[in-house]
Order: sequence, then structure tokens, then C-alpha cells
Amino acid sequence: MLDFHAHILPGADHGSDGLQTSLRQLTLAEQAGIDTIVATPHYYPQSDDFGHFLRKRKACRETLLEAYSGPIRVLTGAEVHMCVGLDHLEGLEELCIPGTNVMLCELPFHSLPGGMTETFERMVEERGICPVLAHVDRYDPTVINNLFGMGLSGQLNAEPLSHRFHRRRLLPWIDRGNIVALGSDIHGTEIGYSQYLKAVDFLGPRAEEIESRVRALLKPAL
Ligand SMILES: [Fe+2]
Repeated sequence: MLDFHAHILPGADHGSDGLQTSLRQLTLAEQAGIDTIVATPHYYPQSDDFGHFLRKRKACRETLLEAYSGPIRVLTGAEVHMCVGLDHLEGLEELCIPGTNVMLCELPFHSLPGGMTETFERMVEERGICPVLAHVDRYDPTVINNLFGMGLSGQLNAEPLSHRFHRRRLLPWIDRGNIVALGSDIHGTEIGYSQYLKAVDFLGPRAEEIESRVRALLKPAL
């Protein structure tokens, strides 16, 4: 199984306070049957220096991979907080998962500012990027449906799928093909992959469909 959204790089963000936590996260992932993880540290264009972010991410990845000799393949992307005009950022492609044009994009929580849909359009049409909307389960479904209507796709977190209350509203997105990836969005080690496993168990064949979509999307990186 592939975890598309995980905060496992040691010290890269609040997902892991250091190497021991990251190694424990990878052990939990192994035990859950995960074979590939996309490490997606937060990138906030409004406050993070781009060059600094890239250097820090690289150093954190190296620290992890020097210490980890297990079977999980770790790809390095980012959870990119969207802002209007992001399409103008020089080197934006560096935030995609290496070997692909796929970028995990986090929407602002409260509302979509004017100009955001145009930003997505330019990212797709002018920069050739394939945005995947992070944890679409968290947002106003009307906003998400509009973005799906533009041709964007989304990632679901395991957590809401592990609760009976939330499941029903999320299934139509899966069945319409809008969801291309599942993610643990793991932070720390407390919850681990228990919710991810519950979600996969609940989804059954739908989990397999999503898995085949994400593997097709990331094929050049796998
Ligand atoms: Fe996240």
C-alpha cells in the first residue's frame, strides 16, 4: 500500500521531532503493510523561504535514509499551502514528487480567495503541474466539487474514513473517480496507521481502486 501524505521527515515540520520518531513511524508503516510513503513536509509560501525549505527537506531526507535500512520506499514531495499567484514561483516543480508532475496542494481552510481557481488553471496549463488537493474531507464540499469540476483530483485522509459518521458523504467522490490517493497524514507516533488500516478495511475494493489510481499517477517515480 502507498501512503500519499505523511509527515515523517525528522525535524522537517511538526510531524516528527527527530530521527527516533521518524524511524518509529516507518516501523509502524511497515507493520501496517505500507511499501511506499510520500513524505510531504509543509511548505508555506507566505512565510517559508523557498531555497531554505528545499535545503532543509533534502538534509532531513538524507538524515532519515542514512539511518533507515528497511523496505519502505520514501519519496519526497511537499504539502504545499496554496496561495494566489503560486504559479509564478520560480522552481515550483521542485515541490512535485520527483520524476512526476504531481503536487500535493493544501487549500486555505476558511474560504477560497479570489484568484485561486485561476492560479490552479495556470499551474496546470502553463506549468504542467498535476495538483492533488490534500485531505479534501476537511473542506466545504461545494468548494471541492467546484475544483473537481475543473478537473482537479483529491486525496482523502484515512481518519474520517475510519469513522462511520463521515464515511457516507465521502464515498461518491471515490466512486466518481475524484479521489486518486489515500494518506495517513501521520504526525508523531500516537495514532500510527490504525486509522489507515480501518479505512482500507472499510473501503474494500474501493481502496484497491484508489491504490491503482495513485500508482498510475506516480508510475514514473515507482
Ligand atoms: Fe498534512
